[in-house]
Amino acid sequence: MKVLVIGGAGYIGSHVVKAMMKAGHKVTVFDNLSSGLRCNLFKENDFIHGNILIQSEIEAAFEKGFDAFVHLAAFKAVGESMENPEKYSVNNITGTLNIMNAAVKFGCKKMIFSSSAAVFGAPQYLPIDENHPKNPESYYGFTKLEIERFMAWYDQLKGLKFAALRYFNAAGYDPDGEIRGLERSPQNLLPRIMEVACGMRDELKVFGTDYDTRDGTCIRDYVHVTDLANAHVLALEYIAKNNESLTVNLGTEKGTTVKELLDASRRISGKAIPSEDVERRPGDPACLYATSKHAKELLGWEPKFSDVDTLVKTTWEVYK
Ligand code: WQD
Repeated sequence: MKVLVIGGAGYIGSHVVKAMMKAGHKVTVFDNLSSGLRCNLFKENDFIHGNILIQSEIEAAFEKGFDAFVHLAAFKAVGESMENPEKYSVNNITGTLNIMNAAVKFGCKKMIFSSSAAVFGAPQYLPIDENHPKNPESYYGFTKLEIERFMAWYDQLKGLKFAALRYFNAAGYDPDGEIRGLERSPQNLLPRIMEVACGMRDELKVFGTDYDTRDGTCIRDYVHVTDLANAHVLALEYIAKNNESLTVNLGTEKGTTVKELLDASRRISGKAIPSEDVERRPGDPACLYATSKHAKELLGWEPKFSDVDTLVKTTWEVYK
C-alpha cells in the first residue's frame, strides 16, 4: 500500500517507517522537522517538508493519493502540556483535525494513530485493559483521548477506519542499528539514564523511592519501539482486511522499576551512572502496566524486543 507517515522523522515515526518498508509498503514521510531529524529519513522514501497547521500543505500531500496514513506528529511532554495547553490544543488537536479533513477529502480512509497510556490517568486496577476508565491527568492525555473520539465520529460519518494504538512507555532503538537520531532534551527515563552514562548529564534523579513497589521506585511497562512499530503494520493489515476500526493497548504485561532499568544500564554500559534519590514527581502513579491480550487476539502482536536487556542494549548502542 501507499502509506503517508506524518511525523515520520521522529523517534517512533522513523521506526514505523522502517517497519512499513520492511512489510513492502511504499512510504512517504511528511514532517516539519521541529523535533524530527533529517538523519532519521531513509533514502528510499519520498519526503515532504510540510506543516500540519497549514491546510494547503497537508492537502497537497494527500492529493498525491495514499491508501493509508499514520499520524505521529504531536507534542508529547506531559509537564509542558499543563503549563502551555494552548500549544497542545493547536498542534495536537487542530493539527489532527486538519489531517483528518484532508484525508477524507482525498479519499484516504485508513488511519493509524499514536495514542497513549496517558488517556487512562491513575490506574484503578492492573493490568490496564482497553475498557479501563479514561480520566486523563494531563492535558496531553486529554488531547489523545479527544482525538480517539473524533476518529470514532469520522468512522461513523465519513467511513474513516482507524487504529488507535495506545503506547505504554516507548523505549529502545532499532536492533539493526540503522536509526540513530537522538531526541533533543529527552524527558523520559531511559534516554536520561543514557545521557548520564555518556557524560552529557551529571546524574540521574530518581523520582521517589518510597512507593509501594518491590524496590520503592515506580513500575512502568517499557515497550521496544520496534515492537510498537510492528503493531502499526499489523493494524494496517487488520483495517484493510476487515474494514473495521480498532483500539488497542500496546504493553507487555511486565513491569520494570526505575532501579531495575538503572541497574541493567550500569551492567550493560559498564558505566557508573551516578544517581540521586529525590522527591516524587507529582502525578506519577506507583505502578502502570497493560494487558496486551487484545492486541494479541486481534493483531497477533507479540513483543519480541521488549525485555529489559534488549531495551537497554539497543539504546546504549546508539548513545555510546
Ligand atoms: C518513567 C519512570 C519517573 C525521569 C510518560 C508519559 C506517558 C507516555 C510515556 C507519551 C517514572 C521515572 C523519569 C527521570 C525518574 N508518553 N523517572 N527520573 O511518566 O511513565 O510516561 O512517557 O505518550 O504519557 O506520561 O515516563 O519516562 O517520564 O518516567 O526517576 O529523570 O521514570 O518518575 O517513574 P512516564 P517517564
